[in-house]
Amino acid sequence: MAEAPGAPAHIAIIMDGNGRWATRRGLSRSEGHRAGTRTARAIVTRCRELGVRHLTLYTFSRENWSRPKDEVGLIFDLLVEYMRGELSNLLEQDIRLKVLGELDGLPFVVRQALTHVMDKTVNCRSMTLNLALNYSGREEILRACRRLVAKGAAPEAITEEAFAAELYTAGQPDPDLIIRTSGELRLSNYLLFQAAYAEFYFTETLWPDFDAAELERALADYQSRQRRFGKTGAQLQPE
Ligand code: IPE
Ligand code: IPE
Ligand code: MG
Repeated sequence: MAEAPGAPAHIAIIMDGNGRWATRRGLSRSEGHRAGTRTARAIVTRCRELGVRHLTLYTFSRENWSRPKDEVGLIFDLLVEYMRGELSNLLEQDIRLKVLGELDGLPFVVRQALTHVMDKTVNCRSMTLNLALNYSGREEILRACRRLVAKGAAPEAITEEAFAAELYTAGQPDPDLIIRTSGELRLSNYLLFQAAYAEFYFTETLWPDFDAAELERALADYQSRQRRFGKTGAQLQPE
């Protein structure tokens, strides 16, 4: 057997199923999002303890704007609450906050809360927490094209590296592992460029019920795989 991959440097999660979790309990979808926030807080800490260097959480997609206004408002209220409550914990855990997505399209108070935490945690080094917010993978790719054109980049200078440097994730490794909860088997416009060689882990567990044990199952599953990157299994045999 070839050597199993080490711990993933970058985990990206599609935190799905808050609404169904709430509906099954006779609660409002808002309660589902509130419970989902508690899970996010715990998973951030656990990933940091496990030595994951980059964690990306899909928090609000560009497509999520089509949800009822009240639900969108509630999601942003929770986000602002999270930012206000978590700053000291992020600093204590040496976690840097970044946003992947179009910040300008977010309500002013949300932008302000995010910018404050991003500024305060700019020197934190143990882990980078990326929140994908107002995010669209396709839009991110088009944005990178526009930025290269605006710079006057010569066609031959547009390498994969030069392109990746114009993405929101510039300077960060591609996700090694993408986890999606709630049984849905799709990417929903998430990290389309960066996901090229990611491993996937899908679970029926709804996001509010995703816990440290489930995270460890995902990691164990990931570590049992052979990442080939186009090679044959035999080529990967240790000498
Ligand atoms: C994920 O849970 C949270 C966001 C998309 C903001 P959902 O709200 O999509 O939950 P379901 O899929 O309706 O159960
Ligand atoms: C993806 O979940 C976006 C987030 C988790 C923020 P959705 O629930 O919006 O995805 P679809 O619409 O079911 O594909
Ligand atoms: Mg959903």
